Amino acid sequence: MSEQTAGHPGAQRKLAVRESSGHADAPAAIEARDFNFYYGDFRALEHISMVAPRHQITALIGPSGAGKSTLLRAMNRMHDETPGTSSEGDLLLDGEDINGIEDLIVLRKRVGMIFQRPNPFPMSIFENVAYGLRLKSQSANKGVIADQVEQALRGAAIWDEVKDKLQQSGLALSGGQQQRLCIARAIAVEPEVLLMDEPCAALDPIATLKIEELMAELEERYTIVIVTHNLQQAGRVADQTVFLSMNPETRAGFVVEAGPTQQIFTNPKDDRTLAYISGRFG
Ligand SMILES: Nc1ncnc2c1ncn2[C@@H]1O[C@H](COP(=O)(O)OP(=O)(O)O)[C@@H](O)[C@H]1O
Ligand SMILES: [Mg+2]
Repeated sequence: MSEQTAGHPGAQRKLAVRESSGHADAPAAIEARDFNFYYGDFRALEHISMVAPRHQITALIGPSGAGKSTLLRAMNRMHDETPGTSSEGDLLLDGEDINGIEDLIVLRKRVGMIFQRPNPFPMSIFENVAYGLRLKSQSANKGVIADQVEQALRGAAIWDEVKDKLQQSGLALSGGQQQRLCIARAIAVEPEVLLMDEPCAALDPIATLKIEELMAELEERYTIVIVTHNLQQAGRVADQTVFLSMNPETRAGFVVEAGPTQQIFTNPKDDRTLAYISGRFG
C-alpha cells in the first residue's frame, strides 16, 4: 500500500484521535534545531526543527521519501555506519549534542531502536534480553540478570507468553511476539528514548493492537518517537505529531507542521497538512 492511500478520503472523519496525555511544553528529550542531513551531496533533510517531549509519544508522519527514517536514524546515529553522510545544525538528547557523544555504545543504551522487521538474535528468548544486560554490567550475577530479564519481559507485555519457554529460540516466536521481545531487549538497559520505525508494518491487526497498548504503558517510563505511515495509528498513539513533506524541487524533507496530535489531525494550520490528513495529498 502506498503511503498516500493511508489517508483515503474520509479518513479524517473516521480517525480516532487520542487526547494528549502530556504537554507540548514538557522538557525535550530529543530536539532538532535547524538540522540538515546529507547522503553525499544529496540533502535529505532541510532545516528540521522539532521536539520530542519527555515521556510522550511523538509520531513522524508524511509521504514516502520525506525523510522520516533518516531523521529517526540520526537520533541514535545509525548513519555513522553509512559512508558519505553528514549533517549540520543541532540534534540534541536532553540538550546534549548527539553527534558529540563519544561512545556510541553509551548513546545506543540511552536511545534504543525498534525496526520494521522484528530482529531477534538467533539465540534463546532469555539470552536475547540478557545479552544487553551483560554488556551493561559485567559484574551482575546470575540471579540479578534473571530478575532483570523477567522485568524487561514483563515490561514488554510478553512475560506470560514466554515464561515457560525462556530457553527456546526467539526466532520461533510469532512476528508480534518477536517485536515485543525486541522491545524487551531494548528496555532491559533502561534507555531514555525508544525509536520505532514502522514497528507494526509487518504485523497483523491483533499484534499491532498489542504493540499500541504496550506503547501507552511504556510512555510512563520512556520517551517514544515512532515513524508510521498509518495515520490511524498516529492518531491512536501519539501525543505529538510532526508532519514531514518533501520539497518538490530539491526532494529534501522538511517539517510542514508539528504540534499536539489532536490539533494536527483536527485543526491543522497548514493547508498541506490538511490535504495529507484528509487524503488529498498528491
Ligand atoms: N542510504 C541512502 N543513501 C542515499 N539516499 C538515501 C539513503 N537512504 C535514504 N535515502 C534517500 O533519502 C530520502 C529520505 O528517505 P527516508 O528517510 O527513507 O524517507 P521515509 O522514511 O520518509 O520514507 C529519500 O529520497 C531516499 O531516497
Ligand atoms: Mg522510512
